[in-house]
Amino acid sequence: MLRNSPNHYGSLTRCLHWLIAILVILQLSSSFLNILREGNVYSQAVVQWHTTIGVGILALMAMRTLWAISQLRHRPEHRGALQKAAIWGHVLMYLVLLLMPLSGMAFTWGSGYGVMTPWFLHTLRR
Ligand code: HEM
Repeated sequence: MLRNSPNHYGSLTRCLHWLIAILVILQLSSSFLNILREGNVYSQAVVQWHTTIGVGILALMAMRTLWAISQLRHRPEHRGALQKAAIWGHVLMYLVLLLMPLSGMAFTWGSGYGVMTPWFLHTLRR
């Protein structure tokens, strides 16, 4: 089922969740591994796509936010202090995952690249 229901999350919510999770893991693991072992093969392969993956995350997060808002009345209920804390944890994660790519784009523009570059730049100067 595409939509969420009070008993379970629908296929679109799950699909967006795992797609974004995989892309975020790729971004963070390739960037941080490059700090630990500069120039390693994995980071070199993935970092070439840092901008594209990051802008992809931004687009998917925008879709996910709109979808989550449209599903507010259909999602599983959250009761109790722990579940309320989980909701705020998720709100925080949504904000971070929207602000991270935006700050990356601002950094790229601030570094003197053209306005369209942050969408298409495949190689970061590091
Ligand atoms: C959720 C998406 C993103 C995540 C998780 C992420 C993660 C990171 C991390 C962990 C670093 C630090 C790497 C290091 O210091 O070597 C970094 C650096 C950088 N990112 Fe991203 N990034 C994202 C999206 C973007 C986007 C969309 C752009 C550009 C359009 C971008 C541009 C950059 C640039 C230019 C740097 C280098 C900054 C510097 O030299 O200090 N990032 N990113």
